[in-house]
Amino acid sequence: MSRQQDRDNEARAILTGNDRGGYTVPTDGLYPYQWNWDSAFAAFGFSTFDVSRAWDEVETLFSGQWSNGMVPHILFHKPDPGYFPGPDVWGCDGPIPSSGISQPPVAASFIRRIWETDRATGHARLQALVPKLADWHRWFMDWRTDDQDAVCVTHPWESGRDNAPDWDGAMSAIDPDGVGDYQRRDLGHVDAAMRPTKEDYDRYIWLVQRGRRLGWDEAAMARDVPLKVADPTMTFILLRANRDLRAMAEEIGQSTSEIDAWIRRLEAGAASLWHESSAAFTARDAVDGGQEDDVSNASFLCWYGGLAAPEALATYDRISEEVTYGVPSYDPHGPDFNPRRYWRGPTWPMLNMLIATGLAEQGHADRAEALRESTAKLIAEHGFWEYFNPLDGTPAGGKRFTWTAAIWLGWASPSARKD
Ligand code: GLC
Repeated sequence: MSRQQDRDNEARAILTGNDRGGYTVPTDGLYPYQWNWDSAFAAFGFSTFDVSRAWDEVETLFSGQWSNGMVPHILFHKPDPGYFPGPDVWGCDGPIPSSGISQPPVAASFIRRIWETDRATGHARLQALVPKLADWHRWFMDWRTDDQDAVCVTHPWESGRDNAPDWDGAMSAIDPDGVGDYQRRDLGHVDAAMRPTKEDYDRYIWLVQRGRRLGWDEAAMARDVPLKVADPTMTFILLRANRDLRAMAEEIGQSTSEIDAWIRRLEAGAASLWHESSAAFTARDAVDGGQEDDVSNASFLCWYGGLAAPEALATYDRISEEVTYGVPSYDPHGPDFNPRRYWRGPTWPMLNMLIATGLAEQGHADRAEALRESTAKLIAEHGFWEYFNPLDGTPAGGKRFTWTAAIWLGWASPSARKD
């Protein structure tokens, strides 16, 4: 059997091994619950060999949706003392114990892809899911946009890029006074040099404690907000998700006028993130108005969001040439580049898939294919790790990672190619 077939089999074994019955954990140990955007990738991976299981994954995710439309970033289905902060720290009372913040809404886009592979039984599933997706997207439009219509995060974890330099300015304005003692669990699983620092963690927990104190009431939390950053990840992903939601709403005969208005607003919001001297889309502090010059891998989701953005290509090419395995999560020329530390430099295969999807759709098939090949090489040589050093390919973080396995099956593996 070839190495590629071995990896295909291993990827399927990772998905089924991380399956906890209707939902999939990102990796055993480090992340023992259902995470929002991980789960949408997992569904996509399952759809390559078990489409019914793919639908179950997203339906379980939406079973945790709050009455205000928010779909939490973590659903704590079964208690697990190996993770901190757990349900007791968050203190939320949704239908399933959960965190009180959300995560990038990739679900609509993956649901559309799953439906396209399964139109026969997919139609009925869509009828139930489309209104739920619309409620969630409306929650983002109501509670997470700024005055320029970009989508913001109110906790770094909401972005899915926990310790990216994009939040450093806003995080340093927080005094985590009174956060108290707590015990991190992540450092029992992964080397501290590959994880966020204690300074970051104190502020993560402080923000959770504040949300809990305010009963996770969005109106109350929106007053005197300590952290609100307009984020390329959220803005481009929600823009794309709305375009996909629109197609699905049409399919089931629902009106698309509200979604059309969201798309127009987000196109303006996306344009507002353009940073001239960086020649890229970057984060903006929505509290003090300052825009970061940090270029990240999320900057290159512009094409995935449906923008032509030819002016960002030269920056993409420069950064790709500076590393062996793109796309690094932070510009190697930036002052905060660290090739090992999580979202401050390492390459994340799942984000590469989104970037390559956008590149291909905007007519840059060569760049998309080069990115697929280099991602495939990393995974073929090392396995299904969480992230990789972009300079030499050293694997890092958690092993046997669900979304790395999922994007291998659906995109990176030679067997995933349709042509
Ligand atoms: C980390 C990542 C986040 C992911 C989670 C589970 O918090 O930053 O994007 O969803 O782990 O894999």
